[in-house]
Amino acid sequence: MTVIDIIAKTRDRAPLSRAEFDFLARGAANATIPDYQLAAWLMAAYLNGLSDQETANLTLAMADSGERVDLAGLPKPWVDKHSTGGVGDKTTLVLLPLLAACGLTVVKMSGPGLGKTGGTIDKLASIPGFRTDLSPDQMKEQAGAIGIALTGQTPALAPADKVLYALRDVTATVPSLPLIVSSILSKKIAGGAETVILDVKCGRGAFMPDLERATELSAALERVGSQAGLRVKTVVTDMDQPLGRTAGNALEVKEAIRVLKGMESGRFTQLCLHLAHAMLATVGMDADPSEAIRSGKAIAKMEQWVAAQGGSAEVFTSENWQVAPSHTEVTHTGGSAWVESIDAETVGLAVVGLGGGRKIKSDTIDPRVGVETLIEVGDAVTPGQTLFHVHAADHHAAEAAGQSLAGATRFSAVPVSPRPVILS
Ligand code: URA
Repeated sequence: MTVIDIIAKTRDRAPLSRAEFDFLARGAANATIPDYQLAAWLMAAYLNGLSDQETANLTLAMADSGERVDLAGLPKPWVDKHSTGGVGDKTTLVLLPLLAACGLTVVKMSGPGLGKTGGTIDKLASIPGFRTDLSPDQMKEQAGAIGIALTGQTPALAPADKVLYALRDVTATVPSLPLIVSSILSKKIAGGAETVILDVKCGRGAFMPDLERATELSAALERVGSQAGLRVKTVVTDMDQPLGRTAGNALEVKEAIRVLKGMESGRFTQLCLHLAHAMLATVGMDADPSEAIRSGKAIAKMEQWVAAQGGSAEVFTSENWQVAPSHTEVTHTGGSAWVESIDAETVGLAVVGLGGGRKIKSDTIDPRVGVETLIEVGDAVTPGQTLFHVHAADHHAAEAAGQSLAGATRFSAVPVSPRPVILS
């Protein structure tokens, strides 16, 4: 077997076998196949596509290219959750305690954010003392004890995906359905998942800008997941406006806590409850997530989780942690109108500009900064009404963010319908 034969086969639309995908994934992981040959294969796969069977084999080959976490023995059913990423997407912070409070065991590995979409690890790291570096054994032990564990991704997990993803990023081969599907699912399988709920985000604040592509991706994830031995449930959700009220690390943790305490009821809360119901139905349980919030079980589970990973309990009793020193407001300068659109991408980039996200991998994050979006599509607004509240490290940063946010909203002179958060 040679890599030239493998490239030629995909170039000529001949199917690759599992052994050939293993060869490719191992060669990517241990650097025995040079980048130029991997890049040539990626472009062939991008242009000609891969069948579902090939995508499942690539998924398994990448999952097997490094360590695989063994979660066998955990109180069943154990589940995982993944989102394709979006602005203000703090769903994991609510969904994990909610599901654990409903009797599931939830184990998850999360990555840091890059670009306009934040990462769960960065959000949790804003809680003073919270550890995001559990070993697989520690993760399993904690999940067994309290039903919930989350850690950062280890480099040993699906290393072939790491190499191929970095090459895709610089060879214009990221937006390929089989390559996206195998990349996402290989990491879930390597992390020990059996059942995953996948929140496929759709809109300007997300990776998939339109509903047709997002629906195609969601169907492919379910089909290929099942061929690779992973139970996958997908939900396509709106990311055309920021999710919930906040974008920025500590602000989002505070919002998640308010949802778990039953203090919020908007689109973000609806999304969390929908995903929880969908996951419980997938594993055949009929617990009620709304009741878990009302009874206080959900917030108690979050408190238990934060304590288990070394985080400060102060985050539950006070809003005065990680507070940015400088604030500014963006107000509506026109006449009475309705909100037609809020550009999630502009909000996400404003948070990055404030220091709440990374422009390059080595940037450090200021957990205190971010943007509160005080309106939703469909809301009526009046002159002078506050649209955004900016939390910044200093006055200059606050002003710069305020200026870019001033152009983020479009208004209509006639009423606009609110956008549903669940799209399919
Ligand atoms: N997320 C991933 O992990 N991989 C992709 O290819 C796209 C999104």
